[in-house]
Amino acid sequence: MFPLQRHRRLRQNESIRSLIRETHLSPTDFIVPLFVVEGKGVKDEIASMPNYYRFSLDLLVKEVRELWQLGLKSVLLFVKVDEKLKDNRGEEATNPNGLMQRAIKTVKDAVPEMLVMTDVALDPYSIYGHDGIVDQGKIVNDRTNSFLAQMALSHAQAGADFVAPSDMMDGRILEIRSVLEDAHFTDIGIMSYSAKFASAFYGPFRDALDSAPVDVKDIPKDKKTYQMDPANRSEALKETFTDIDEGADIVMVKPGLCYLDIVRDIANEVEVPVAVYQVSGEYAMIKAASEKGWLNHDAVMLEQLTAIKRAGASMIASYFAKDAAKLL
Ligand code: PBG
Repeated sequence: MFPLQRHRRLRQNESIRSLIRETHLSPTDFIVPLFVVEGKGVKDEIASMPNYYRFSLDLLVKEVRELWQLGLKSVLLFVKVDEKLKDNRGEEATNPNGLMQRAIKTVKDAVPEMLVMTDVALDPYSIYGHDGIVDQGKIVNDRTNSFLAQMALSHAQAGADFVAPSDMMDGRILEIRSVLEDAHFTDIGIMSYSAKFASAFYGPFRDALDSAPVDVKDIPKDKKTYQMDPANRSEALKETFTDIDEGADIVMVKPGLCYLDIVRDIANEVEVPVAVYQVSGEYAMIKAASEKGWLNHDAVMLEQLTAIKRAGASMIASYFAKDAAKLL
């Protein structure tokens, strides 16, 4: 007898393999996270993120032009805020002349067609390193929401196309949407970090922005009262449905690789695009192992990005966007 199905027929060479390939990566799949700092001529490598940098505004211009040339059409902005400007409620976050607001204008002036998304959360501005206002040892929900909505409005006024709330407060999408509508910013999109897990993979990012929760008495040392428990699956759907009901245009699962079951669950259930954030710790692991010569950098990178897309991601926020775009 011979095997009735010889599956290997469809794997004999690259021509047939590419013909039947189900998942394709393209530069247009990516959102490029960018870290911005004050100063001039600054291109600061982040210690735990080799070959990833914080840029001052002048060098940000060069960087976004290069991204555009590579076919990368959207960026997600994060700012490293001066320690002196931090407080408990993120007052600086709504400064019309703040670093974020200037960064938005800088990118739009350099490459007008570049889609500009902005991080909305208090942590880079918070003396406590929390995404919300801290009161008597608690991260308070509703008061935080009003600040987040004002922050989103200020980004819209500066020219952002999308705001991306990464804080995981309840009801913030509705509050942001209402404030944007009232101010007639009807075309500003919301990409909600809807299923964001309390993950240990965010470590390098917190180094990059110096935004980790502080180790001070009576201040929570982690984000577990607002970010999700990595053990939970159905809760991710609940979070996501809520954000869609409240007006999110794009929903997100974060981190990526460990949460691809969640990505598939959500992609099967919702009608809006699903973004995945391949986070800083995922980037750092591949960099470290390949520096040691233990893994093939490019092959592992493309394998992981392909797996994220195969799981159901319509787009991927990734520190590998530039590396991948060069190879594709
Ligand atoms: C904070 C925020 C975090 C990331 C994006 N926005 C870290 C956190 O929640 O502590 C993580 C991104 C990464 O690790 O790459 N609002």
